Amino acid sequence: MNTSEDSRCDRSIAWFREASPYIRAHRDATLVIAVPGNVIAGDTIDTLVHDLALLHHLGLRLVVCYGLRAQVDEALADDSRVVEGRRVTDDLALQTIVSEAGRVRTELEARLSAGLPNTPMSGAHLSVSSGNLIVARPFGVRDGVDFRHTGSVREVRREAISDMLDATHVVLIGPIGYSLTGDIFNLTVDEIAAHTATALGADKLVYLVDSLPVDAAGTLQRELDSATATTRSTATDTHDNEHLKRVLGYASAACDNGVERVHLLDQHKPDALLSELFTRDGSGTLITAERWESVRPASINDLGGIMALVAPLQDEGALASRSREQLELDIADFVVSERDGTVVACAALYLLDDGNTAEIGCVATHPDYRGEGRADAIVSQLEARAKRQGCAEVFLLSTRAGHWFIERGYTETGETALPPQRRDTYNRQRSSKVYVKSL
Ligand SMILES: CC(C)(COP(=O)(O)OP(=O)(O)OC[C@H]1O[C@@H](n2cnc3c(N)ncnc32)[C@H](O)[C@@H]1OP(=O)(O)O)[C@@H](O)C(=O)NCCC(=O)NCCS
Repeated sequence: MNTSEDSRCDRSIAWFREASPYIRAHRDATLVIAVPGNVIAGDTIDTLVHDLALLHHLGLRLVVCYGLRAQVDEALADDSRVVEGRRVTDDLALQTIVSEAGRVRTELEARLSAGLPNTPMSGAHLSVSSGNLIVARPFGVRDGVDFRHTGSVREVRREAISDMLDATHVVLIGPIGYSLTGDIFNLTVDEIAAHTATALGADKLVYLVDSLPVDAAGTLQRELDSATATTRSTATDTHDNEHLKRVLGYASAACDNGVERVHLLDQHKPDALLSELFTRDGSGTLITAERWESVRPASINDLGGIMALVAPLQDEGALASRSREQLELDIADFVVSERDGTVVACAALYLLDDGNTAEIGCVATHPDYRGEGRADAIVSQLEARAKRQGCAEVFLLSTRAGHWFIERGYTETGETALPPQRRDTYNRQRSSKVYVKSL
């Protein structure tokens, strides 16, 4: 192999290492994705369908809800009204929607049937199912506007969808619902996706949006809790466009009704889905039901809380001993995660004098609060902090949690790999193992 092949190979291996914990975590997870009509008609659809097929083969249970707004707009020219995100569906609009729904479904089925060409998985078979999965009711007359054949979700036929997923089929749902009286209604893909995710108790609901939420300075907001998403869905002082606001409303409702994570992804970025699901940094905005608490820099007021958290772990040997005085001196290096005024997780980042390396230490979560991603959030934040400070590498010493770090991209190395200044203070009696990660 020549040098460029070597480095490509190294990058692939690094990517695979980073992705592997996520591959495991997502297996058997149910993911509902809302794909708007303009994405289906656009340039990124081939990549998206390819990636959905890949996710299916990795063991995710996939429900793909598709919209038709762009297709129907084009077919009807200016001949149709949309009020607050819903089309006023007259007879002609309904006819167009029904025929476009059939056409798009057939096209998607064909694309999904193509498997994964030019990959070692080409030829892997994928089955697609659809049907009368959404029970609708009329949206009715609102503020004097008769929405005619526009409907809203009355019920999602959860068992029928679950059966299809259990049979390892990808489920396709168009923006159409049927009433108990046999009428056909035009629904929005965003509403269908939210209701479907809720009915299935999905692990993930994904919306592809034209623009992601940003703060007042225009910086992408990587995380929002559902309460904030609710507020923003009706706010007038944000940069959010009308579609994003509606999606925020559905996202927060889905979270409040049991969907664990809602991801908003930039529909213009072909790799957004894989990068969101398989990389630490993700690519879009994550909305979760309860933002348990944010990770924040520690202050001297947290000293007692940190002591109470780490003392038992020091006593049992999971953490190296640090005196109160030492913690007080190092308090600016700590971040904490707090719950109801109590420090429930913490960690520290020590920058070394070489300016290139940092040590992560004292990573601890209170036993009652483990397994909810706190240490993960804290360590990610410290790694980002180290990177911002110009470090190329972080290392840490641990006696028991090595595997936790290995699953997050660290590799075990030896004491001799420690920077010289840290080697001098390495406590051989603890026999801690050394782990390192390139940033
Ligand atoms: C390791 C520790 C910080 C993880 O805290 P946490 O907030 O529960 O971590 P997260 O929620 O982000 O991750 C939990 C996952 O890590 C796994 N995990 C926990 N400890 C682990 C270990 N020692 N090795 C491998 N995996 C571990 C959990 O099983 C869980 O996996 P799951 O979601 O598949 O069930 C916590 O267990 C702790 O305080 N341990 C004692 C102190 C310690 O050893 N610190 C490291 C030395 S610096």
